[in-house]
Formats: sequence, structure tokens, C-alpha cells
Amino acid sequence: MKRKLVFATNNHHKLNEISHIEGLNVEIVCLKDIGFNEDIPEDFDTLEENALQKARYVHEKTGLDCFADDTGLEIDALDGRPGVFSARYAGEPANSEENIKKVLFELSGKTSRAARFRTVIALIIDGQELIFEGLVEGELLTEKHGADGFGYDPIFMPTGYSESFAEMDLVMKNKISHRARAMRQLINYLLGD
Ligand code: IMP
Repeated sequence: MKRKLVFATNNHHKLNEISHIEGLNVEIVCLKDIGFNEDIPEDFDTLEENALQKARYVHEKTGLDCFADDTGLEIDALDGRPGVFSARYAGEPANSEENIKKVLFELSGKTSRAARFRTVIALIIDGQELIFEGLVEGELLTEKHGADGFGYDPIFMPTGYSESFAEMDLVMKNKISHRARAMRQLINYLLGD
């Protein structure tokens, strides 16, 4: 039987992405699956601290092995913004359309459009805390392309590809995405590599 691990999220995009990753040797359950309905704090201003805070919170409340992720879009010409503030860059409530508009506005006239998605995963397992990271480098387009995906996907084109994340099918996004790469590190650890 596969080992159960709680993924401290209810984001169906992330769960859908993870269910497309091949070779998983654990059964990933989300917060809803275990009846966990509390809001989880994210009080810090680094991805690492937030991921750890979320994983610790769920672990302390449930006693279960779990992992949490935090992701940011880091834009060179904006000194790494929106980074840890990616979800609510244009303010509350979180709104991807408005976030994209704000980023495109701030980038207008800039020569560099280089950016990366960075995911940090904090895993708490068998009493240990571990951190994994995944990156994908790319550039920001000047307008939205494609309708799939979520967040900043329509304006992010990974290096070496000619379509945005929102134009790619999930199998392809999952080969190269920040989250898939961080997940791969996590899975390799779980496999004992
Ligand atoms: P989170 O920490 O994973 O919730 O990510 C924070 C924010 O980064 C999200 O609300 C999205 O705006 C953005 N983001 C995270 N992952 C992705 C992705 O795969 N594509 C596009 N945007 C993403």
C-alpha cells in the first residue's frame, strides 16, 4: 500500500498537476481529504519560511506527515518582485487578472523581461524537516497567450519553448515546471535516491 502524505493545500490546479506526475510512490491527500478546514498562516516574507510555517502548522494540528509549498514569480527587472507576494500582488482579494495587469504595467519600457518561477517545498516526515526547491527560467510576454493553467501562466514563456505555460498541455508543463521540479526532489527523497 502506498504511504499517505498530506499536501497542505486545497488548490485543485496543484493537485491536478501533481496527479499527472509519473512515478509517484506515495498517495497524496489534500486538506479537504482529511477534513482540515482551518486557514493556514503565511506570515513571512520568504518562500522558505512560509512553506515551513504551513507544514509545521498542519503537522502540529494533525500529527500527520505532510508537506507544504510556496511559490513566487521572481522578475529580474523588478528586483525579484512579486516573489513571495505573487498571489496578492495587485491587492486583496487575490486576482490573477489584476496581478498580470500590474506586472505587465510595471514591465512596460523595461528591456529585460527575464523571470523565474521558484517553488519551495517543506516536508515534515518521521520527525525531520526538509526543504526542496524547483526553478524554471523564462521570460514574460507582453500580453496574455493561452487559456489553460492559472496565475501568471498566460504571460510566462519558459526558456527554450515558444509557447506560454497557459498554452502548454499539463504533461509538458509538468516536465519542466518549478513545482514539478521541486516535487521531483521530494519524490527522489522519498524513493531514497
Ligand atoms: P503559491 O504559493 O503556490 O500559492 O503561489 C503563489 C502565487 O504564485 C499563485 O497565487 C500564483 O499567482 C503564482 N503561481 C504559483 N504557481 C504558479 C504556476 O504554476 N503558474 C502560474 N502562476 C503560479
